[in-house]
Amino acid sequence: MGAVHLLAIESSCDDTAAAVMIDGQIKSNIVAGQNVHELYGGVVPELASRAHQQHIVPVVDRALKEAGINAQQLNAIATTAGPGLIGSLMVGVSFAKSFAMALGIPVIEVNHMQAHILAHFIDEPKPAFPFICLTVSGGHTLITVMHDYFKSEVIGQTIDDAAGEAFDKAAKLLNLPYPGGPLVDKYAQSGNPKAFAFPKPTIPELDYSFSGIKTSILYFLEKQQRQDSAFIERELVHICASIQHTIVAHLMDKLTKAVEQTGIQRVALAGGVSANSALRAALHENGKQRGWEVFVPDFAYCTDNAAMIAQAGLLKWQAGMVAQPDLAPYARN
Ligand code: KG4
Ligand code: ZN
Repeated sequence: MGAVHLLAIESSCDDTAAAVMIDGQIKSNIVAGQNVHELYGGVVPELASRAHQQHIVPVVDRALKEAGINAQQLNAIATTAGPGLIGSLMVGVSFAKSFAMALGIPVIEVNHMQAHILAHFIDEPKPAFPFICLTVSGGHTLITVMHDYFKSEVIGQTIDDAAGEAFDKAAKLLNLPYPGGPLVDKYAQSGNPKAFAFPKPTIPELDYSFSGIKTSILYFLEKQQRQDSAFIERELVHICASIQHTIVAHLMDKLTKAVEQTGIQRVALAGGVSANSALRAALHENGKQRGWEVFVPDFAYCTDNAAMIAQAGLLKWQAGMVAQPDLAPYARN
């Protein structure tokens, strides 16, 4: 069999993305963001679906052109089927299904969270099984033991907000635009992480909780601003560094506990928050001290992208987990 040509589509939240993978190599990886949400301080689902509708055709077109192939060369289309915003998902899934039907090729439905983890198999070094993965995004915070590509076990998760949500909500309290996570990271680089202390969440086992951190930041900022209305502006970098330090310490605490409990010393990061410089540094540092083998994704594969959907799609294709096109309703006698 010749090289497998895959088109992958991702539209679960507020990024419209398409990628082409040929014979396991990413040939294009296009992401169109949506800044329409900035005005509202968070993703507005209805606006997200409309923006996906506008972006999907040009984004797919560009992905095919950059990869230097035409649609007729495709063997299958992989698309994110969930979890995500239903209206956003529907745009990508309906596009993928109609395009696949027109081309007479199968659709491979991919789970978005699984794809974040499987992004580790795009490039070397690839983790051997079993490994532990901390998946941290805007909607999820999970510690998973990966036994195989499609065999995993969640051993810890957040009981309230996700880590990305904690970054974004804290950023909103600091009057930073949405999504604030990357900005907190940027300002934190010139701040003192020990300048302000926020209480560490006390939550049993391997679970996380971030809502208490958000509340303590809110009360702290209200109190400081009452005494000095320029407090946030003046201390921004130190506040960002301290918030980031608190979130990262909580993430690393439970991850360390997970390694101790399972005895698995291969540890990976996935999801949008894995782009955070302090989290990446903390994982490398812990790895060095404790002898872990660590895996941190390339920046292009941290936040939402279609390359990870292509990788998950390829693995499903190889495992035969593919839906054949249902052409029966259109068959001519
Ligand atoms: O995986 P992702 O792109 O989308 C979801 O599946 O949710 O993750 C987005 C989240 C947002 O909350 C964003 O603020 C956060 O990842 N994020 C960061 C950084 N880059 C993205 N948080 C902290 N530091 C960053 N550098
Ligand atoms: Zn994501």
